[in-house]
Amino acid sequence: MQAIVQDLKSTVAKTNATDIRAAFAADSGRFAKFSAVFDDLLMDYSKTAVNDEIMALLEKLADAGGVAAKREEMFSGVAINFTEGRAVLHTALRNRSNTPVLVDGKDVMPDVNGVLAAMGKFADGIRSGALKGATGKKITDIVNIGIGGSDLGPVMVTLALAPFHDGPRAHFVSNVDGAHIADTLKLLDAETTLFIVASKTFTTIETMTNAASARAFIADKLGEAAVGHHFCAVSTALDKVAAFGIDSDRIFGFWDWVGGRYSIWSAIGLPLMIAVGRENFGKFLDGAHAMDTHFRTAPVRQNLPMLLGLIGFYHRNVLGYPSRAILPYDQRLLRFPAYLQQLDMESNGKGVTIDGTPVEGNSGPVVWGEPGTNGQHAFYQLIHQGTTVIPAEFMIAANSFEPHLRHQHELLIANVLAQSEALMKGRTFEEAKKQLTDKGMDDKQADFIAPHRVFTGNRPSITFVHDKLTPFALGRLIALYEHRVFVEGVLFRINSFDQWGVELGKELATGLLPVVEGKESASSHDASTQGLLKALLAARK
Ligand code: F6P
Repeated sequence: MQAIVQDLKSTVAKTNATDIRAAFAADSGRFAKFSAVFDDLLMDYSKTAVNDEIMALLEKLADAGGVAAKREEMFSGVAINFTEGRAVLHTALRNRSNTPVLVDGKDVMPDVNGVLAAMGKFADGIRSGALKGATGKKITDIVNIGIGGSDLGPVMVTLALAPFHDGPRAHFVSNVDGAHIADTLKLLDAETTLFIVASKTFTTIETMTNAASARAFIADKLGEAAVGHHFCAVSTALDKVAAFGIDSDRIFGFWDWVGGRYSIWSAIGLPLMIAVGRENFGKFLDGAHAMDTHFRTAPVRQNLPMLLGLIGFYHRNVLGYPSRAILPYDQRLLRFPAYLQQLDMESNGKGVTIDGTPVEGNSGPVVWGEPGTNGQHAFYQLIHQGTTVIPAEFMIAANSFEPHLRHQHELLIANVLAQSEALMKGRTFEEAKKQLTDKGMDDKQADFIAPHRVFTGNRPSITFVHDKLTPFALGRLIALYEHRVFVEGVLFRINSFDQWGVELGKELATGLLPVVEGKESASSHDASTQGLLKALLAARK
């Protein structure tokens, strides 16, 4: 693999691949050559620094890295998350073909379908009012209490599918900062509120603490006996949920072969199902399943997750770009960049390969972003003229849900296209100077000002275009990014499915709590931590 990476680096230099502007000038067929379509989803990667030689080498890299074989291992239930001894089967949760998927020789599909049916029944009951609060009132508000994968998925998809939302209002509490739950509870009437405690492990301190506060809210307002009517839970740790006091018909399970950041397809998706109904939730799963089938069967040059992963690897490990910006031109994808941050950075932010040796080159990049056009008026300056090249990933729907605001969608489309064009084309010194002299500036002053108005151009971007952000399209989009992370992880030669890096901070926080509570001395901590503790404790009232 390293030899192919070296070949890629020398091919970039030899073919002047990073001059994307020149490549467009030389080849009018560039868009057709470097774009791919899956149904109504178009991926344009012609504005990245690829050419025929580079693409051939990237295909060779996918081969050498064994991406296809690893993909089949994942789909067929091999325990590829070997540091935790687990299969990686979020794809089984949306296996709409219902073909058997075996874990340790047992087909998981009957269990998957069973939980889905139980969720559907419960969601129907809440939505219709058949399942009421303790005082007989219909549930008008649901509050998902979870964090990380037990929050980001539900909150992101519920916001994204707002036009389909015809169930109770949905709220999300994640932060252990009491401000989060306090601000949420202020809006709510205990009699008409349902809390969903979502935690794969049912041990996460943030979630357990917020759940206890929510429980106290119900018990205070409606009495202890009311609690059962106002809670349900989603977890793999069914025994722990039972100990919390939630009835078994209000507990929705999933399995250790579903990673937290890959769990939106499981019962963790319950808030979405309650918000948009089981039929729309089914379409969301259908979209992901369609992408799974595409990923498994399409040849590399037509395979969107493969292309996205290969170009992602190329950006990171051949061209050395340290980050990528996720820029949806869709306000309802507001939390999509944050969702991808966890998906990508918790999966691929690793320094050790599957052999236990240090990663050669780099693993995953920093992922960040905001919806356009807001980002344009904030950080795009750096993407256009800063000293770091940041590949941008744009997404736009051809159609909105607001036909009466047609002109606004036209503006949105014009903006996204303008940004990718500007990044690629840039503006030369001569062009900048001419603009100034045309406006009447004298030659000397124009020479002085023009450098500030130069854009280097040749800045890479990928643009996705689809028809409309429906449940199906959203499921497909998320699955696309999941598989891109998978492809990159295989090429980085890491285990994308554990997350040991988040453990140390958790352990230290547990150890520090008694010190903050004044029950233990701070003497075993470093001088900085001791100094900060002293300042905080002195200021506490
Ligand atoms: O701290 C990281 C993490 O383990 C994530 O991987 C996970 O999504 C999140 O915490 C929440 O975990 P749980 O669902 O078990 O509460």
